[in-house]
Amino acid sequence: MRTLTSQDLAAVARVHLRAFPSSALTRLSGGAVRRYYEWQLSGPHEVTALGAFDRDALAGFCFGGVFRGALAGFLRKNRAFLVWRVATRPWLLGNAIVRDRAAVAFRSLSKRWRRPRRSARAAAEPSPPTFGVLSIAVDPPYQGHGVGRLLMGAAEAAARRSGFGMMRLTVDPSNVQGIGFYTSLQWQKLDTGARWNGTMQKTLIDNRAMSS
Ligand SMILES: CC(C)(COP(=O)(O)OP(=O)(O)OC[C@H]1O[C@@H](n2cnc3c(N)ncnc32)[C@H](O)[C@@H]1OP(=O)(O)O)[C@@H](O)C(=O)NCCC(=O)NCCS
Repeated sequence: MRTLTSQDLAAVARVHLRAFPSSALTRLSGGAVRRYYEWQLSGPHEVTALGAFDRDALAGFCFGGVFRGALAGFLRKNRAFLVWRVATRPWLLGNAIVRDRAAVAFRSLSKRWRRPRRSARAAAEPSPPTFGVLSIAVDPPYQGHGVGRLLMGAAEAAARRSGFGMMRLTVDPSNVQGIGFYTSLQWQKLDTGARWNGTMQKTLIDNRAMSS
């Protein structure tokens, strides 16, 4: 297990393409996937990027930390590339997943452009800092052998070391495999009203507090 650098981005993209074969990013291209993770390494984030290796081969990765514009920044930085990808592959817009992600992307950008109304700003409570898990993926031949557990354990250890009391992530509510994995690692679904939006969280209990 080691920290990932820009040298590992091609391998990260390869694992993402295989682990998420139907994601919108995958459908756009391997280049789009590589650029997405490049932004997570180079943007204004506090990122913990971990890779699990089998000799020299990347078996899985986890990107976690505090992200500032993980999606909106990626879209802004790569808008010419992304517009070109879609313009040269208009049939992509016929795909429901791509359309859904494009809508999320548009909302993410417009949210940053719109200033919150005064009343909303006043009502907003400062939320405690949480360690977000942006993405975790294991190359299919390595799945089911404990690599995901190892990666999540290392991400959790990094979060604890940095003093976070809470971890949070968003999973596609239809990703039964992912939800089963998180649940087995004691993550809980966050109650988001009538229709669960895929947010899960895990409280990090301070072991020192437990033992004193
Ligand atoms: C989800 C994923 C990261 C899990 O990694 P993995 O290496 O296969 O998982 P592990 O072998 O470490 O399993 C860890 C635990 O999760 C449980 N688990 C894994 N997949 C599960 C599933 N489909 N249903 C229920 N539990 C599951 C295992 O039983 C194991 O618990 P145990 O150690 O008590 O037996 C991996 O399968 C993957 O990359 N999937 C595709 C991408 C994805 O969905 N990512 C997560 C959502 S963003």
